[in-house]
Amino acid sequence: MALAEFLASLDKLAEQAQTAFRSADSLPALEVVRVELLGAKAGLLRRVQQGLGAVDQADKPAAGKRFNEVKQLIEGALADAQNKLAHGGEDVGDGLDVTVPGRPLRVGHLHPITQTICEMKDIMGRLGFTAVEGPEIEDDWHNFEALNIPLSHPARDPLDNFYLAAAGARPAQGETAGENLPPLLLRSQTSTVQIRVMEAGVAEAAKGGGLPPPVRIISLGRVYRPDTADATHYPMFHQIEGLLVDREVTMADLKSVLRLFCQSYFGGEDEVHVRFRPSFFPFTEPSVEVDMNWRDAQGNSSWMEMGGAGMVDPNVLRAVGYDPEQVSGFAFGLGVERICMRQHGITDIRALYQNDIRFLAQF
Ligand code: PHE
Repeated sequence: MALAEFLASLDKLAEQAQTAFRSADSLPALEVVRVELLGAKAGLLRRVQQGLGAVDQADKPAAGKRFNEVKQLIEGALADAQNKLAHGGEDVGDGLDVTVPGRPLRVGHLHPITQTICEMKDIMGRLGFTAVEGPEIEDDWHNFEALNIPLSHPARDPLDNFYLAAAGARPAQGETAGENLPPLLLRSQTSTVQIRVMEAGVAEAAKGGGLPPPVRIISLGRVYRPDTADATHYPMFHQIEGLLVDREVTMADLKSVLRLFCQSYFGGEDEVHVRFRPSFFPFTEPSVEVDMNWRDAQGNSSWMEMGGAGMVDPNVLRAVGYDPEQVSGFAFGLGVERICMRQHGITDIRALYQNDIRFLAQF
């Protein structure tokens, strides 16, 4: 046989093999093709190989070389086809090393303020206080009126509050849009939630006809005041509000709860001290500023102002429908950022809201 004829039969086989491998759509189908082409006894390659004997003696080395090349080509194509079918038809190529370790995923974690909030909920939960939420957009009644803050009070000053444009405001029940629209604002304090909770409690008691149920709640959330941002101020910050209403609640209960709270939060081995300074809030009487003293991670121990507190003013109890002769209560409102910052030795409140991962990843 002439060399050319032999080489042509090799080329034809190579082409046939490529097409057959490509059209096999499953591993069993591919196996059938493999036996047909490469089968040791009756495979087509074997048959072509037999033709090698008939090639002229002088052309044998060239023919043998080409035969081996084609054989390798077909075997390679078969391996590729097997690989591809084994991986769901994906062409994975030769470069895949399934033993290479994966790229580690960076797991995020809670913002330091959120961590502080969770811890506070936990501690107050153990003292029997349920966490509740209130809306951040509030009306005049809940942010001021029911909290005994009269119309003339400077706390209502537009310069001290984020009032919302009345155009977008929805009329309250029974009102027509635009007519004497009560202002809406971003709440300036979480004391709004006191009102909402007490109103709901009174409504429930009215349904049951019995006495108003005792109220023991905390509320943690954002409040807004148009302060210029500096190291200790930010136009949005968080407060923890506490409210307990029951029979015969006293200032001593207030102080005990705050002390227990601080002892659990910061205490560890050390003693934590709580100090009250006389103050004024329209919705509490008497009112106090709350200071706490504990040794922090940096070894500092000095008095820190935490917020305000007091006995719920009878006017507030009356506004929501309680009888101040029957029940009394205490309330407090503390700044969450302050506590968080002191705990971690953070010196600038703005760092908490710049979303710099390098800063946040430390907590
Ligand atoms: N709402 C007050 C403030 O934001 C804090 C406070 C809450 C005071 C409850 C007394 C009772 O400053």
